[in-house]
Parts: sequence; structure tokens; C-alpha cells
Amino acid sequence: MDKNFYITTPIYYPSAKPHMGHAYSSIIADFFARFKRIDGYKVHFLTGTDEHGLKIQRAAEDKNIETLKFCDELSQTFRDLSKILNLSNTDFIRTTEDRHKKSVQDLWKRLYANDDIYLSKYSGWYSVSDEAFYNEDEIDNLDGKKIAISSKSSVEWVDEESFFFRLSKWEKPLLEFYKKNPDFIKPESRKNEVISFVKSGLKDLSISRKSFSWGIKVPDNDDHVIYVWLDALTNYLSALNYPNTSNELFKNFWPASIHLIGKDILRFHAVYWPAFLLAAKLKPPKKIYGHGWILSGDEKMSKSKGNILDPIEIIEKYGLDPLRYYLIKEVSFGNDGNISQERLEDCINSDLANNYGNLCQRTISFALKNCNSKVPKEIKLNKEDKLILNEYSSNVDNLRSKIEDQNINYYIDFIVNSLFAANKYFNDQEPWKKKEDPIRLNSIVFTTLEVIRKVSFMLYPIIPESSLKVLKIFDIKESDINFSSIANHDFLKLGIEIKPINILFKKIEKDKNNV
Ligand code: MSP
Repeated sequence: MDKNFYITTPIYYPSAKPHMGHAYSSIIADFFARFKRIDGYKVHFLTGTDEHGLKIQRAAEDKNIETLKFCDELSQTFRDLSKILNLSNTDFIRTTEDRHKKSVQDLWKRLYANDDIYLSKYSGWYSVSDEAFYNEDEIDNLDGKKIAISSKSSVEWVDEESFFFRLSKWEKPLLEFYKKNPDFIKPESRKNEVISFVKSGLKDLSISRKSFSWGIKVPDNDDHVIYVWLDALTNYLSALNYPNTSNELFKNFWPASIHLIGKDILRFHAVYWPAFLLAAKLKPPKKIYGHGWILSGDEKMSKSKGNILDPIEIIEKYGLDPLRYYLIKEVSFGNDGNISQERLEDCINSDLANNYGNLCQRTISFALKNCNSKVPKEIKLNKEDKLILNEYSSNVDNLRSKIEDQNINYYIDFIVNSLFAANKYFNDQEPWKKKEDPIRLNSIVFTTLEVIRKVSFMLYPIIPESSLKVLKIFDIKESDINFSSIANHDFLKLGIEIKPINILFKKIEKDKNNV
């Protein structure tokens, strides 16, 4: 079986201050990267910044800063964010790096050599904010201004010499490709959207601009810079040292396992990108997953709408793991999700403090007092103990396949339910009344500790720092975490010492809080 996993986030436009939408897509990607790692995969996890194009050039001009210097500063804020979010990315790419320029120019040359590029003239609408071209039927009037209907951003008329990619030629091959690879676009609704867009007819795509200079030069023609989306999409290859296709990174990780993106950039990833790759005789990625948006009220959270929730402020107030948990759990993956501080607080109280935190706290304190601070040695598991433990062994393959389908909500619901069940088990078994029957008392404690160990393994991709804090009490290190082992009931070494634990999650006093 293929034990390599290559996952990417989109590379972010650094001119926008990072907001919750950006944090969301990165955290989700980190969840998958960490899960695959504990499931025995070699993982390459890429994120970075998308620094070319007219939008960035104008933003730098407005600030009167040299463009690359402007990008250096802004890119750093995203690199810092990846640390703040505790992302386990293995690379961070910038499109202004030489390794990337080399890669883009090589891809261009391949497309040119295969006669997929020709020189002509572009007349039409362009949105600088979206860095996208629009047809007349995709444009509307708003207060005397022309805007793109889909994004509401303003468009300007462009009339200039341009190189074109023969996208129309790839209409049929793309439809065949979607048919042969039914899992290429997920979720299903997005796939249908893409197929009907392609079926409605593809026009050749303008892939160079002459009227500004902030970009990668077209090979052998210094007057043109390469269209920012052809430039940006190629980052997924540059990070694997393309055009060197015989190096280990490329051999191990291309085609990418999954490009995780927001639904607004689906067309670029599910139509243009596979067309460029097919034209260059390279394999398209295995999957494009278009997740929903984090909304503020009814609208997409974005800088231009001024409705941003700042992830850094939220993390300072509540901590990182509560935010990671909340975003992964509360947004039904694939759909849009409305988030609020009030619901985040409810989630911290009910799931993290009362459910996981409480189970860890009470069981460990009980074991410290009543089992000589050790994982009990003398045990005899009965039917009830085995029932609760077997829930994990009988679900390992099921959970793994749900993650393969990006069904994060199933995975997290399983965790929440098993924590409820474990708290109930501990209450019902009343170990505090079993002091006369040490074997029974030991068996209850052992069972609950094993459940805590298993759930902490499962929680590691969601709340890595907190789960590691819990595992530390059993002397379990990050490198020991192994998803398959949730099936075993003998992971905890009998008789090993248990260390005390501090409060994991503080409950939020709702009435004292000014939300
Ligand atoms: N630079 C391009 C991507 C190029 S990939 C080859 C871009 N950058 S972006 O900064 O505007 O957006 C990056 C990602 O953040 C996209 O997947 C986008 O969908 C996602 N999000 C931006 N706002 C969002 C929300 N409010 N909610 C969820 N995700 C959102 O597009």
C-alpha cells in the first residue's frame, strides 16, 4: 500500500491579515497530516505564500515599499501563524523563491513545446482582487461600478497582448479524467458544479500579462509575466524540486494525495490545474477537496468585508487547542460554518473541560490515591470492561476509512461519544466502593486509563498539545503514538508509575464574561 501522503493548503495571499478562514484551512490540513503520520505514513505537508500579481504590486506601491521587501514582511506573518497554530508542516514555500521560479518557467516551456500556448490578444474583464478573468455574463453593475457576480469584487477592462493556454482542447480529456477518477473532486456537490462548468464549454485561458511586472517572466519574452494562478498552482510541484522528477521528494510524493482548498478557488484547482498538468504530461493530484467558508453572520469572513475574527486574539484569550477543537468539531466539514465566541465557550466547557478533562482528572487522581500512583498490575477484566475497550478495536478500520473520505465529523463524534461512555462507565462501576476488592478496583482503573490513552491518541491530530500533556503522565512520547494501537488493550505497561496532572482546560465562567 502507498504509505506516502502529500497534503497542501492553498498558498495564502500575504496582503490580507490572517483571519479565521485562513486559520481554519490550515488547521484542517494539519489534522489530516498528523492523523496520517500516526497511521504510519511518511507525510509531506506544504503551506506558504502566493506573492506575485497586480494585487500585491499595488498594495506595495500604496505603502511605498519595495515589493519584495513588502512580501518578506507579510510572508513572515503567515510563517509566524503556522507556528502559532502548531502546524506540523514540513515545508513553507514562497513564490518569490528561486526554486519556484525555475519550476514555473520549466512548466511553461513544456506547455509551449507541446503547442499548448500561443500568443494573441486579450480583451475582457479582470478582477485584481480575485486575480481572475471574467466573461461578460459573469459581470454585474453595482452603484455604477462593474463587479464579478460570484465574488462581488470590482473588475477592470483589460486590452492587451497575451499568451493563451489552449484550455478548450482539454475539455473532453478533463471530462474523461473526472469520470475515470470519481474521487478527484470532493465533496460530491462541488464535483457536479465543476463538471457542469466544463460541459458548458471551456475557452482558451489568458496566461500572461504585459501591463505590470511583478511576476515570473515568460521564458524568452521579458515583456510578459506569467499569470499569477499558473504561477501559484505550480508551487505544489516546486516544493518537490520539480523539474527534477527523479529526486526522492518528487518520486515519493507526486501526485499529491490531496489539495485542501476553499470552495472559492475550486475552478483553478479542479479545472485549470489538471489541464495544465495533463498538457505537461504530468499526473494530476489524486484529490481536490473544496471545504466551505467560515462565515461571519451570513457572509464569508474576509478582509474586504471588514468582518474578521482574529485567530491570534482568540488564541490569546482561550488557548490554541480549544480553538483547533472548536473549528474542527463545529464546522460540518465541507459546508459553511458560522462561528461565535459564545459557542466556542460552550464547546470548551462541555467537551473539553467536562468530558475529556474531567475523565482524565478524576481517573488519574483516583489512581494516584488508590493504586499507589501506578498503572494497576493485578487485574481481571470482566464483560463490561471488555465491552468499553472493544469499542475501539472494532472501529479502527471504520475510523480510518472515514478519514480517507474526509469524514472528520464522524471521527470527532466517535471521540465525544466514547468520552461520555467512559465517564458513565467510571460512575456506574463506582471504584470508590470497591476498596475491599482490589482486583475489581484495579480493573476499573486500568480500563479507564486505557480508554484515556486511546482517546488521547485519537485526539492528538486535533489538540496535539493537550493530548501530549495527558500522555506524558504515562511516559508516552509523541513518536510512540500509533493509531492502530487503539485496538490493543495492553499498550500501557502494567505497574509503571503515573505522574500527576494539572487542570487541562479551565471552565469559562459565562456570566462574568463580556462576550
Ligand atoms: N493565493 C490563493 C491560493 C493559491 S493556491 C495555489 C488564495 N489565497 S487566499 O489567501 O485568498 O485564500 C487562501 C485560502 O483561504 C483559500 O482556500 C480560501 O478559500 C481560504 N479562505 C479565505 N477566507 C475563508 C473563509 N472565510 N473561510 C474558509 N476559508 C477561507 O486564494
